[in-house]
Amino acid sequence: MESKWAKYQAEPHQTQLSWCLPMRKTDSRLRETLGAVLEHALSHIENLDNSPVAATADLSTLRRRLGRQLAAEGIPAEQVIEELVRDVDGGILGSAGGRFFGWVVGASVPAALAADWLTSAWDQNGALYATAPAAAVVEEVVGAWLKDILGLPSEASFALVTGCQMAHVTCLAGARHSLLAKRGWDVERQGLYGAPPIRILSSSLLHGSFERAVRLLGLGLSQVTVLPADSQGRLEYAALEQALQSNPSAPTIVLLQAGDVNTGAFDLFETIIPLAKQHGAWVHVDGAFGLWVACAPRYRHLAKGVAAADSWATDGHKWLNVPFDCGYAFVTDSEAHRASLSHRAAYLTHDAEARDQMDWNPEWSRRARGFASYAALRELGREGVADLVERCCDLAHSLVMKLGSLPGAEVLWEPSINQGLVRFLDVEPGASEQDHDRRTEEVMAAILTTGEAFFGGTTWHGHRAMRVSVSSWRTSEEDVERVVTAVAGVLKVPVAQ
Ligand SMILES: Cc1ncc(COP(=O)(O)O)c(C=O)c1O
Repeated sequence: MESKWAKYQAEPHQTQLSWCLPMRKTDSRLRETLGAVLEHALSHIENLDNSPVAATADLSTLRRRLGRQLAAEGIPAEQVIEELVRDVDGGILGSAGGRFFGWVVGASVPAALAADWLTSAWDQNGALYATAPAAAVVEEVVGAWLKDILGLPSEASFALVTGCQMAHVTCLAGARHSLLAKRGWDVERQGLYGAPPIRILSSSLLHGSFERAVRLLGLGLSQVTVLPADSQGRLEYAALEQALQSNPSAPTIVLLQAGDVNTGAFDLFETIIPLAKQHGAWVHVDGAFGLWVACAPRYRHLAKGVAAADSWATDGHKWLNVPFDCGYAFVTDSEAHRASLSHRAAYLTHDAEARDQMDWNPEWSRRARGFASYAALRELGREGVADLVERCCDLAHSLVMKLGSLPGAEVLWEPSINQGLVRFLDVEPGASEQDHDRRTEEVMAAILTTGEAFFGGTTWHGHRAMRVSVSSWRTSEEDVERVVTAVAGVLKVPVAQ
């Protein structure tokens, strides 16, 4: 009997043999599949302006379409892709476009998207120089460029990780090592049982990803002391001073914010960091998106003094507009950083001259994620990054102020960077705060159904609010006008000229 493999070689297009490996080296199906993908990708991106930003397919529809039985026999790759594109229809948000203002997700600049595709095609294991030589050098270069444009110390070590969440884990692993080593405790060997507890001081604005890092590293949420923030969302100096003085010998991490999720608030690094350091604390900065202001002449004053911290976590997949899977960790105590993560095994190959990512990253095998950052930074250049940051801030300001000036709307937070808050009021006489909250939810839901824009919600100082985050290179003043018109339509009010 003729084998399936022989049949496939003779008639590749008539034979369903996607399971048959190895594929031929010049497989026409691969070319066709990737060609089809290029068309689908372009069609998605080129239609973003004409497509709804929110999902149009509901959960049960997506489950019904996608949740088929896994067949015993495989199907051709082109068919897999055609059916995938068909079945996810309506379940892909327009977050790659210019009218997506939910969270801070950014889009992807063309070179970064293209380099991300190549990363998959090259399929390098970015663990070591030996497994991915060019990727290792690219990461070395990206790390140096980032420290330069973010104004961080050039001697800091770094890691390109999945996102800010793992950047926190990476930085805190270094902090844990350093603080305990200074007290004669080898945490990597001895673990945390019996170790001096590390306390963590932060304002109430700490992001959940930091808390998760604290949990993952076994530091314990009960060690986090939440201190008051002022009306601008900045950790209060006096409160921090008092906390530091209350237990001067305790190993301490102070968490500071460069860009709060709701308001984009910055701690006053210039005064707070020296205070913390004076008391021997390790200062970690959550700069998931806000740290990028350091690249922008009009906004960098907000990050003044941030370079004096011990570690910083930020993202490429937010404001730098790199596809997802891209965070950055920086640590001044490179020995502590390396000691907390490095590993050697007999079967691995190391080059004394080269940088092995595994010495600095929490993963073992990993995507060679530096290519996309390298491409974004080259495409934008220093001025392009600065322009991207400043443009997003200008557009956020314009959008928030225009939305807030609509009858029945109110600005809760005027953007100081790219984040603002708006709420919608119940105009009935005697309406309560709960009525305004309900109205805000109602309007946000109605905006989503127009498909014209996507905003997230939040609770801020006890009020329900619509969060406005602008972080896409694609957002334009026309998008702002279009969205304001759509929201006016939902509110049934005219747009002021
Ligand atoms: C301030 C802040 N920190 C940390 C994170 C977590 O980042 P990531 O999702 O890249 O892990 C986010 C947002 O997601 C954030 O806004």
